[in-house]
Amino acid sequence: MSTSQSASGSQLNFLTASIADLESRLTLLNLQPRDQANTVDGRDVVAGLKQTKKTLPPKYFYDDRGSELFEQICTLPEYYVTRTEAQILQEAASEIAQLTGSCELVELGSGSSTKTRFLLDAYRDQHCLDQTIPFAYAPIDVSGGILKESAIDLLRQYPSLQIRGLIGTYEQGLQNLPPALAPHRMICFLGSTLGNLNAKECQQFFDQIRSALQPGDYFLLGIDLQKSSQVLEAAYNDVQGVTAAFNLNMLRHLNWRFQADFNLEQFEHFAFYNRRYQQIEMHLRSLCDQTVNLAALDVSISLAAGETIHTEISRKFDLEQLPLLLGPSSGPKWLKSRKIWTDSQKWFGLALCQAVLE
Ligand code: SAH
Ligand code: AVI
Repeated sequence: MSTSQSASGSQLNFLTASIADLESRLTLLNLQPRDQANTVDGRDVVAGLKQTKKTLPPKYFYDDRGSELFEQICTLPEYYVTRTEAQILQEAASEIAQLTGSCELVELGSGSSTKTRFLLDAYRDQHCLDQTIPFAYAPIDVSGGILKESAIDLLRQYPSLQIRGLIGTYEQGLQNLPPALAPHRMICFLGSTLGNLNAKECQQFFDQIRSALQPGDYFLLGIDLQKSSQVLEAAYNDVQGVTAAFNLNMLRHLNWRFQADFNLEQFEHFAFYNRRYQQIEMHLRSLCDQTVNLAALDVSISLAAGETIHTEISRKFDLEQLPLLLGPSSGPKWLKSRKIWTDSQKWFGLALCQAVLE
């Protein structure tokens, strides 16, 4: 065997060994098989488009392209949300790990898991000091592509990390959590993604969180706080047009998923701060009278020129609202806020909560 052949042979061994190692530390469960997605998910699309004021659920932003556009949004100068929360997390991560002790991290809407690395660093340090402490992470996301990619990245970055990823909605993920590997769990919901749920969805969401947590478990919540409407509106109307592309991409996703024929050139992005409801609203405005067919759902919808489809709310919170958000402060198991961190401008809040028994 020539030298070059043996070199490539050993490279191959190295690659094979490392893939085997990655595979041994990764479990991925897809809770949304492709053949079910059309019937299960499609109902919410039909219901939203049949309303007098048309809406579409924000989860449809996130196909592979949508997740990529969201990653670009996170780096925009106008989108202060990600960097502000990242800074808080960087500063608070070791204290969070100290407060919770050994924990398995579960993350809802994990996306690229970029900011989560501050937490993983802190829990890895705990694990390094005492190898009996498990180092485990369970990302949950509807966008399977970015979840898989970031899981592989994380396994390479953290050689002792075990990942058990779930591809599906928050509800599906919470209902299918495998038994915890550590004495406690901490469910993280970062990026103010909570703000994309309306008040009713928010209540149902917290019911699901309380059911998924055992007494003593933790919940880490990142929420975007109220601030001037100029700052808020700029964040959702960036000059490069990335947010507009993200919003329009939902139609491309629906074209693919439901064999629809939305013409993206016949819609425009429209976002504003609704002061009364303390939320950014994103819409897609029809530029002409038009009819759109969604063949796989057997439905046609008509839109008049100027009519909008409401694609997202992004609620902006007040830290005083937190107890109200967390739900009843009594009952068999409830969520108690343990510590809150914020930035110097009070633009973003990070709350560590714990499930407690009455
Ligand atoms: N947590 C990251 C990403 C936020 S973007 C951050 O803070 O930057 C919102 C993420 O939630 C996306 O990755 C999207 O795919 C996922 N997502 C949106 N709706 C979802 C739903 N209903 N169930 C599960 N994941 C969802
Ligand atoms: C994921 N979520 C919290 C983002 C937000 O700010 O509401 C999604 C987004 N929409 C437009 N820009 C970013």
